[in-house]
Amino acid sequence: MVIWKRKEALDRPLKQEAVVPADDYGSLRREYAALAPRYNIRWQSYIAASVRETLKRAHIRSHDRVLDVGCGTGELLKAISFAVPEARLAGIDVSLEMLKIARSKSSGSVDMREGCAEALPFEDGVCDVVVSSSAFHFFRYPAAALTEMHRVLRVGGRIVLTDWCSDYPACRLYDLILRLFSPGHFRAYNSKKISQLIYSEGFSEINIERYKISWLWGMMTVTAKKAPAATTAQIPPRYHLGKQKP
Ligand SMILES: C[S@@+](CC[C@H](N)C(=O)[O-])C[C@H]1O[C@@H](n2cnc3c(N)ncnc32)[C@H](O)[C@@H]1O
Repeated sequence: MVIWKRKEALDRPLKQEAVVPADDYGSLRREYAALAPRYNIRWQSYIAASVRETLKRAHIRSHDRVLDVGCGTGELLKAISFAVPEARLAGIDVSLEMLKIARSKSSGSVDMREGCAEALPFEDGVCDVVVSSSAFHFFRYPAAALTEMHRVLRVGGRIVLTDWCSDYPACRLYDLILRLFSPGHFRAYNSKKISQLIYSEGFSEINIERYKISWLWGMMTVTAKKAPAATTAQIPPRYHLGKQKP
């Protein structure tokens, strides 16, 4: 079965397109168009650490269909394809310039599409795992992005989201500064807020691990499962916080 039908998926009207005005991501696109050629060098150690920590917690199995939302220059996809060569990979990003770099690294077997987290150009239930690293704090409509991740997952499929964690004071401060001075930035979340968001989008078995990758960067990786529709409402919002305290 062909799961990533590029043409078909791109031809059909995108779900929720109307709630994401095109210019909502104008400043972010401009920011990443300028940054793309330098992104991997400028953020080298941050990317290496965040990708390593995400991969460690993603537990990708061979033949899993994995979608990376906000894949940027494709470093996480590259790491997954190295660790699990049989996994079937796709990535989306709003920045064409970032995607161009991601495409130049992939053998062509990775389905890379321009698109928004809030309107994923994929059919329902075609993913086993949706991953995202250092992108969630840009999403203007986080609930819509989670609804879309939930939609494209099969029942029993998982999300694995790594992002800044504003439980850590340094991240809280950095988030505030960026909200004031960086138009592309939206907001970082603390562990409580993100678990509430994820629970209210119908995920279960929410698990959050917090950790630091440097003196500045306090991160969290959130994993959660798409439960069968009938059981979702009955499962209370239990989530487990990793041992490392901020
Ligand atoms: C900090 S980079 C992270 C890239 C990559 N995931 C990594 O770990 O290196 C954030 C990426 O998210 C993308 N992005 C931000 N908002 C997005 C959205 N709503 N939909 C899709 N991509 C988005 C940006 O264009 C950018 O490439």
